[in-house]
Amino acid sequence: MSAAYHPSQKIYFGAAYYPEHWPEDRWPEDIRLMQEAGMTVSRLAEFAWSTMEPAAGEFDFDWLEKVIEMLAEAGMETVLGTPTAAPPAWLVTAHPGVLAVDESGRKVQFGNRCHYCVNSVEFHKASARIVRAMAERFGDNPHVIGWQLDNEYNRVCYCEHCQKRFQEFLIDTYGTLDALNQYWSTAYWSQTYSAWEQIPIPIGYHNPGLLLAFKRFITASYRAFQQMQIDVLREYIPEETWITHNFMKWYDLYDHYEMSADLDLASWDWYVGTGYTDYRSSGAAHDLVRGFKRQNFWLMETQPAHVNWTPLNNVLYKGEGRANAWHAIGHGADAVLYWQWRSAYGGQEQYHGALVDQSGQPRPFYSEAQMLGRDLEKVSDLLAGSTVKAPVAILFDYESKWAFEWQRHHQDFDYIEHLLNYYRPFARRNIPVDIIPADASLDGYKLVIAPALNILTPERVEKLADYVEHNGKLVLTVRTGMKDEYNALLPNRQPGPLAEIAGVEVEDYYALTDPVLLAGQRFQGNAHIWAERLRILDESSVNVMASYGAANGWLDGAPAVTVRYTGRGFVYYFGAYLEDNIQDNTLGYIANFAGIRPVLEVPEGVEVCRRITPAGTDVYIVINHTRGERVVELPWSAQEHLSGLVLEEGIKLRGYSVAVLTKTKQEEI
Ligand code: GLA
Ligand code: ZN
Repeated sequence: MSAAYHPSQKIYFGAAYYPEHWPEDRWPEDIRLMQEAGMTVSRLAEFAWSTMEPAAGEFDFDWLEKVIEMLAEAGMETVLGTPTAAPPAWLVTAHPGVLAVDESGRKVQFGNRCHYCVNSVEFHKASARIVRAMAERFGDNPHVIGWQLDNEYNRVCYCEHCQKRFQEFLIDTYGTLDALNQYWSTAYWSQTYSAWEQIPIPIGYHNPGLLLAFKRFITASYRAFQQMQIDVLREYIPEETWITHNFMKWYDLYDHYEMSADLDLASWDWYVGTGYTDYRSSGAAHDLVRGFKRQNFWLMETQPAHVNWTPLNNVLYKGEGRANAWHAIGHGADAVLYWQWRSAYGGQEQYHGALVDQSGQPRPFYSEAQMLGRDLEKVSDLLAGSTVKAPVAILFDYESKWAFEWQRHHQDFDYIEHLLNYYRPFARRNIPVDIIPADASLDGYKLVIAPALNILTPERVEKLADYVEHNGKLVLTVRTGMKDEYNALLPNRQPGPLAEIAGVEVEDYYALTDPVLLAGQRFQGNAHIWAERLRILDESSVNVMASYGAANGWLDGAPAVTVRYTGRGFVYYFGAYLEDNIQDNTLGYIANFAGIRPVLEVPEGVEVCRRITPAGTDVYIVINHTRGERVVELPWSAQEHLSGLVLEEGIKLRGYSVAVLTKTKQEEI
């Protein structure tokens, strides 16, 4: 838990505002409209480098100070962005080494953003200078509650300097070339390195050990760049001012757990893009980000109406945006900020959704945002300091994800899709889930799922074994326990050292062309994409829950899903990747068996989230994610906080509407 961030005293609401795009005499009207929408925070300056430092070392912050002041007068706080995602033209002209180099060896052209080499010494210097100047000016400004570093770190640089730094990183990691050659099996295809300088930055298909090491180097590079900014800021900003970065859900250029370790608060940018919200999947992204620091997070950007960067930028249905905001809050968001306030005349994002259009007038979506503003005013006190608690943990591992991306073996084997295959049954039943790093503590969870935990370390194995030994209930799935921490095959059969707690081993694995019918007493349905032929190691404690029907000949009749009972705990092993319907039944059965109950029973398409206040009151956020009416029956009488009504039996929810409930009698908890 970070010192600087505590679940906030209110749920913040706002937008990204770029006053530098507009003449000063427009600002009062913008701020009035924000106020009328009920906004409480504004996010400023994240791309304003060329305005704040028009020439090297010449700063102009007066305009920014004025805006922060005007916002404060209107009751709004500020989040300041450091502008390092937009290095200005004068900088890259004076120091071309600041520009990143792409895979083909070409320098990235100026004119977009994130065009920097994250390891460039000149870039670090210039970044430190602008961050320091901002911190000197605004570090003790009482209206600046937090800082966002850069924007969506996202580039890999292939310059010679980065290659050199990568080689140094390898020296630090492996110590000797002999060790590196051994861990990477470089005798294969004569890849043996006899000097560190020979080691390339990988482009495309490559040695799995090298690929994984390079990912770790990318993480280390961004982490160092980020830490440099944190160190500068911390010289000036008060203890309680938090620092964050806005991440992008499942994006995996680097390990987000490592990046988040140095931040006070995790935040992310959620865009639906083409189509509409699938809340049973998007909830997982919120839960992932809540897991970055295992505390509440900020939704730093979200889509007002539509985006501009997909092939088909449809608008969300009327009401869907507000429902989505509540969905985020239900999963632990302490703030919802739209991107962006107003459509700029020029620049690359002219067609993106915004609250105010190019003419300066509210767009139709503004009224929906206004509704959200009113909602939050009503329940701000109720939700203050509340958090989410989940009985189920799903383990997430960037390194396993990468390992699959490089060698899917079946084109449809997608690590995230596979994880969601285990998440959706809980989401559909309104059972809260934490998505946490594979190395996190498992204390207190009633059920732990380790989907496709491909890479095992001795610590991981010990932790899982210990959890099971203490009556933990664990689900292991396909492709678990195949690799070591260098992305080499483990010398024993899958699931490697976990075979002991699972009581089974994998004799062979098969990418499936066609679905395979499973036969079992309880589970009937198809496996698809992936199937493993299991061998029972311990007949006395392992039960076969499903076996393969006729398949490729190799699988026919073999165990597909097993469970080993251990005292009061169990270990399931799913050797088969189940289709959604059978998966739903199966996981529903397992959850029930583990004593896990839904937060509330509600009709299909309705989501119920629960936040628990510091005083222990359960707050139920009920969201109709469909366009039609839904009737939710309540087992207790409830206070509905958006309408102020007391509900004795239930509630009728129109399409996309939301209710925020507490029980009228707390002793019923
Ligand atoms: C990203 C960026 C924003 C903006 C939006 C548009 O999330 O952080 O600056 O470009 O996308 O959807
Ligand atoms: Zn570089």
